[in-house]
Amino acid sequence: MSKLAVRGSIFHTTADPAVERDAWHYIDDGVMIVEDGYIKDIAQAEQYLEAISNSMVVQEYPDCMICPGFVDSHIHYSQMRIVGSPAPGLLEWLENHTFPEELRFNDAKYSDQVAQEFLDTLLQNGTTSAQVYPTVHAISAERFFQESHSRGMRMIAGKVLMDRNAPSGLLDSEDYGIRETEELIKRWHGKGRLTYSITLRFAGTSSIGQMTACGQLIQRHPDLLFHTHLSETKAEIDWTLKLFPEFDDYLAVYEGFGMVSDHSIFAHCIHLSDSECERLADSGAAISLCPTSNLFLGSGLVHPNRLMRYQLPLSLGTDIGGGTSFSMLQTMQEMYKVAQSTGDRLSAIDLFYLATLGSAKALHIDRHVGSFESGKEADFVILDTRSNRLLEQRFERTQSVEERLFALIFLGGASSVKETWVMGKPTHQR
Ligand code: GUN
Ligand code: ZN
Repeated sequence: MSKLAVRGSIFHTTADPAVERDAWHYIDDGVMIVEDGYIKDIAQAEQYLEAISNSMVVQEYPDCMICPGFVDSHIHYSQMRIVGSPAPGLLEWLENHTFPEELRFNDAKYSDQVAQEFLDTLLQNGTTSAQVYPTVHAISAERFFQESHSRGMRMIAGKVLMDRNAPSGLLDSEDYGIRETEELIKRWHGKGRLTYSITLRFAGTSSIGQMTACGQLIQRHPDLLFHTHLSETKAEIDWTLKLFPEFDDYLAVYEGFGMVSDHSIFAHCIHLSDSECERLADSGAAISLCPTSNLFLGSGLVHPNRLMRYQLPLSLGTDIGGGTSFSMLQTMQEMYKVAQSTGDRLSAIDLFYLATLGSAKALHIDRHVGSFESGKEADFVILDTRSNRLLEQRFERTQSVEERLFALIFLGGASSVKETWVMGKPTHQR
């Protein structure tokens, strides 16, 4: 049995602070006891000091904040090499930058290389779990799962389904795409810490035949997540409704094919009507907010408080490579700015919730990760409050937990990630 104690300031959320104001826990000088990769307990350090010094190794992190590993609810591993490629909007960006890059993933070696680089980069940024788009190529999903599995990371992914409106090298077919998906599910879903997300690029790149087959696939696997994009830009919405003229709005297209349930997660959701919000809320589906992507591509500004009023389960995603940063701290920062620009308000505690437990809940992995409840997997990040001078000075003046979290969000970033731990083991050390 391996047992160790990690000592520092400890912060985590325990429920949605937008619903329960006090659903967070902070210990200024705390210890987290980790046993065989799982969280055993957290407590005031002094309470444990005696027992600790006799019976287990203590890792000391003075001036550090220990938080749950970040959970990125929407990211494309296949797009990490095109971050920062400019375009007038989403559809042009897909055509000019994204599709040409994704064509390369029909190659095991390239997929391997990028998957490794991608997982390293997540860890450098303190992200321990993510819901990930590979490409249409089964090999790109296969290699991603393999690499995640060998690192013991809790990851979610699924081969992308798309059979029209893209270069031919990026198209599967109604039957073939579903068959490949079924094979990948058999091989990877539930293996170690991996789960499978049935992944459709978006309605615009699937034929009615593929949408129908995908809907049937979802019905055959009600325990799997379904992951796609929804209502990201106005041009995308207009185009989608031209492709599916029998539907009244964008969400209705997914509803029409049986793709909307409490296991669905939709990225972006910027331009939803009231009716779409109501129907999404009734379904229990979750949303991934992706502010750096929305700002970079000029997709629009989401109103988080509006979505909260509908009690929609919200989470946070980087959406690399439309998004411009792997850092969930940076993503929280941009989410805050988007909220401010729309007249909405988010607290630092709200933002940390979105990046940890909120995303874990949206992805149905919150019984394993996202907070420090006893029995959960010990995935956590150690944030150094002295990683740069500005942060250090700002931190010295803070008087509340809220202020400390704000300082980390605005002055921290990737450079403040001192260590990232997965299942009770350090996997990244700066
Ligand atoms: N909609 C369909 N595909 C994509 C993609 O790759 N990125 C983003 N941001 N939106 C999409
Ligand atoms: Zn995306």
